[in-house]
Amino acid sequence: MRSRALLISAAALASIGAIAALALMWRPAIAPVERPQTFDSVQRQRGARVVEAGDCAVCHTRPGGQYLAGGLPLVTPFGTLYSTNITPDPQTGIGQWSLPAFERAMREGISRDGHFLYPAFPYVHYQRMSQDDIADAYAYLMSGPAVDSPPQQNRMNFPMNIRPLVSFWNLLFLHGKPLTPLAEQSQAWNRGRYLVEGPGHCAGCHSPLNLIGAEKSGENLAGGSVDGWDAPSLLGMAHRANPWSSEQLVSYLRAEVVDGHGTAAGPMRPVSLSLARLPAEDAQAIAEYLLSLPAKTAINEIPSASAEPADRSSGALLFASACAGCHAQGAPMRDIDGRPALDRTSALQAASPRNFVKTVLEGIPAEPGQPGPVMPSFAASLDNAQLDALAVYLRHQASPDQPWTDLSATLEALRQETK
Ligand code: HEC
Ligand code: HEC
Ligand code: HEC
Repeated sequence: MRSRALLISAAALASIGAIAALALMWRPAIAPVERPQTFDSVQRQRGARVVEAGDCAVCHTRPGGQYLAGGLPLVTPFGTLYSTNITPDPQTGIGQWSLPAFERAMREGISRDGHFLYPAFPYVHYQRMSQDDIADAYAYLMSGPAVDSPPQQNRMNFPMNIRPLVSFWNLLFLHGKPLTPLAEQSQAWNRGRYLVEGPGHCAGCHSPLNLIGAEKSGENLAGGSVDGWDAPSLLGMAHRANPWSSEQLVSYLRAEVVDGHGTAAGPMRPVSLSLARLPAEDAQAIAEYLLSLPAKTAINEIPSASAEPADRSSGALLFASACAGCHAQGAPMRDIDGRPALDRTSALQAASPRNFVKTVLEGIPAEPGQPGPVMPSFAASLDNAQLDALAVYLRHQASPDQPWTDLSATLEALRQETK
């Protein structure tokens, strides 16, 4: 009798648990609406600025595809996911979304029909945006041209192909609130913090991730990795061996070439091009905020050097033939855009050779319609031994006491990833 009662209450508890889990995993649809079209041009312009600050087009436009029509593959450790069409097309885009449906997606990661969105869409950051900015972005998106572009089939691995499981992820990691300004800080500082923590979602790349792809708590902006690149720590930038001044940081953020640090390459390139299209005050505000952040105990410890003296002559020869035309002291190209000496760039000063190798493999592609630095890709013309020799030679110029110790393993791994 007693054991039966126990069994029944255990069964009751289990079903309550199951119902609670189901309730957590289910969200209602929000009714479709006629595409709203009555937004004034001032609001649309403000919205354009928000969409730029949020890098929406970086993920929602695929190479050669139409603006914001989706279809860009995002390769994650959990499978491949495609961005969706966020033009106002009623069938394949968000044309039937009301503002509340859009706001729910931005703050909670729920699609209009109630399905959970994967956190590759950085709603953990967008939830910190202001109501006004979300409404302005909505006005801008709804006023753009509608593009018929059906969603692509995702290829997520089990169990991550089960979308409702994202609800547990959200329960663990989705806690932010819209940011409120701190009274003791300047207006620019608060604007910078808002752009970094909210729409700019800088931590999405610049923070380390845990095993299930969430940013590690307590290590905000302490350095992460993305697509094989190191996204360096953004902490203590004013107090490094090679410190950043405010002018340097503003220029870097706006996609310019900066003496002493270089220019934004890889996944940082489109971010900086977006920032360059925003009013200069925004990059200035970001710089003010970032330069106020104190350093943390270095998590990217510089690996201790092996004492083996390396032969640098073959690297010197390769540099003279392949790179000197653009990078040598006195090369005419350098005078034209005031380009920094390579040994004074972040890529060569970093503790890891990753960003150097990635830059040489991928180059810095030209951006249609944008002036800016261009470097050819050397993936096809230099083999690993040559790249190794170049790295040894150039690193010695930047940091003679700390040669890169993990070069050949890094080269092998990055070569695999770079097609
Ligand atoms: C880092 C890449 C990335 C950025 C940046 C990004 N998105 Fe997305 N977004 C995605 C992906 C991927 C999805 C699809 C997620 C899924 O299917 O689970 C998505 C989905 C969405 C959806 C849901 C669409 C639907 O049909 O369910 C909306 C709305 C959206 N994004 C709006 C935006 C806006 C607005 C911005 C800029 C403020 C933005 N996104 C920036 C990657 C991104
Ligand atoms: C999509 C990923 C991504 C996002 C989002 C991103 N970054 Fe970066 N960032 C990188 C990578 C990768 C590098 C290294 C680029 C290189 O070496 O050329 C980088 C480099 C930088 C650097 C240079 C650091 C140094 O020590 O050389 C700064 C400053 C920076 N990012 C600021 C920002 C800010 C501010 C934001 C948000 C507005 C941001 N980043 C958003 C990936 C990203
Ligand atoms: C056609 C001109 C050209 C050639 C050739 C070239 N580069 Fe570049 N490179 C550039 C430009 C432009 C930049 C971006 C501005 C800068 O940082 O100097 C750049 C940037 C870099 C950076 C990144 C520095 C940073 O900003 O963080 C590295 C590393 C680099 N080049 C290495 C090489 C190496 C190694 C070679 C030879 C194998 C080479 N480049 C050949 C034009 C060139």
